Amino acid sequence: MPALLEQLRAGVITRSAGETRALAGRVAPLLPRDATLALHGDLGAGKTTFVQGLARGLGIEAGVTSPTFTIFTIHRGPRASLVHLDAYRLENDRQVESLMLEDFLTSPYVLAVEWPEKIASWLPRDAWHFTLEITPAQTHLVRLAAAGGYPFGEEEKCLPAAGRPLDIMAPTAPNKSAQDRVRETLDIQCLNTAP
Ligand SMILES: Nc1ncnc2c1ncn2[C@@H]1O[C@H](COP(=O)(O)OP(=O)(O)OP(=O)(O)O)[C@@H](O)[C@H]1O
Ligand SMILES: [Mg+2]
Repeated sequence: MPALLEQLRAGVITRSAGETRALAGRVAPLLPRDATLALHGDLGAGKTTFVQGLARGLGIEAGVTSPTFTIFTIHRGPRASLVHLDAYRLENDRQVESLMLEDFLTSPYVLAVEWPEKIASWLPRDAWHFTLEITPAQTHLVRLAAAGGYPFGEEEKCLPAAGRPLDIMAPTAPNKSAQDRVRETLDIQCLNTAP
């Protein structure tokens, strides 16, 4: 695993929005073709800021802003399209299906999802899960919690389901930590693993 990803597994502190953008910019070239990034974190944790860095890392010049009201935006770049989905206002995975997002996911692409727990069952099993948190010292902590369908650390015992459609939704849990929400997202997929 590249050194940067090992560092991200342990957690990287950023001290400014610019540092978060620079970090995400270094992640972009390490992503496999057609990667989905699930960006977990509370309001203001830096999810959109991270996507701005991804855009820059993909050679996309146009500015990335929060797509909360448009649900998703597409930025075409020289190396890949960046599809930026903000699931905050979605209620369930059926709503994301009605967006017909797949029609816009033309390879090569990077799909970055804010509030992924809202559409946990829709996410591909090989999504990369990042958590973003504001620390007590008012810095931001960025961690890679799972990559390619394999959660790290204590979640490793629980492997996500083999792409089976799920009929239950991850409960949204605003009072839980980003790490808890990743665990919940992945646990629900585990519960649905075919026997
Ligand atoms: N180290 C840092 N990393 C990221 N953002 C930072 C950092 N330090 C300060 N900030 C500021 O925190 C804010 C993060 O906002 P951002 O829109 O990226 O959050 P978000 O997670 O997308 O929130 P929302 O859930 O509302 O979409 C920005 O105003 C940014 O300038
Ligand atoms: Mg945002």
